[in-house]
Amino acid sequence: MATGPDSITLLDSLDALADWRAAQSGSVHFVPTMGNLHAGHLKLVEHAAQDGTAVIASIFVNPTQFGPGEDFERYPRTLAADLEALASAGCDAAWTPASATMYPLPEAYRFAIRAPAALADCLCGAHRPGHFDGVCGVVMRLLWQLRPERAVFGEKDYQQLLIIRRMVEDFSVPVAIDAAPTVREADGLALSSRNRYLTDSEREIAPALYRVLQALADEAAEQGPGTFDRLRRSGMERLASLGFRPEYVELRNAETLAPADGSDDRVFAAAYLGRARLIDNVAVTRQNRL
Ligand code: PAF
Repeated sequence: MATGPDSITLLDSLDALADWRAAQSGSVHFVPTMGNLHAGHLKLVEHAAQDGTAVIASIFVNPTQFGPGEDFERYPRTLAADLEALASAGCDAAWTPASATMYPLPEAYRFAIRAPAALADCLCGAHRPGHFDGVCGVVMRLLWQLRPERAVFGEKDYQQLLIIRRMVEDFSVPVAIDAAPTVREADGLALSSRNRYLTDSEREIAPALYRVLQALADEAAEQGPGTFDRLRRSGMERLASLGFRPEYVELRNAETLAPADGSDDRVFAAAYLGRARLIDNVAVTRQNRL
């Protein structure tokens, strides 16, 4: 067990983690991350720390959720800055396991979780096969290692949040999953570690993703389910005309991810700008505008 900047406790072995966990008198709250932290992550920590419960964040770039050709190798690793940011946000401990700690068995002997197709084969999952299986596998390992009472996930990764909620429900994992709202730059761009891949000119275009989603959500609220297919196609066209390479624009039910039907709907999109893959989502209500 080591003490990092501003007295955050740095835990990098299961023994150190067990000692720290045993020393906590009650429950702990958990914020899972892959590092390269920004203000959005720190909001998750603040949310987790609200009632004075000890907070632990994990920093682990999980190889099993990256597909071939994705950015696992070049995903930014910024541990020193991350520890400083976590400490200043009031995080008590950082869990920074090595890959061999998270995955002690060779791949052929490793247990895995298959996320259900109804939730995982649409939206991002349709374009990143196996991604949510990898996320479920690592989150389940982390929950088991840390045994938190509460874990906090951001709404920017809405599909991930929903899948984790259903996973803990299905496996009766004794943890509450909290959602924290998407944190945005002043111009509306959702904070993401991948925003750092944007060039200056791409950064100027990037906030338009949110504006297009807001407009689609307003139009969907006004015009009703009969127009959703047209709105979806129009969203793809609007993004392409602004310089994005849209992967998908979809209207889906917020609880089941089935095609939207006019109640509790959300608009979801993923689009590339250069080498940055941006995702965002907004609820279909009349109050979406900045
Ligand atoms: O959202 C993320 O950063 C990751 O998917 C998570 C939840 C930390 C699992 O690796």
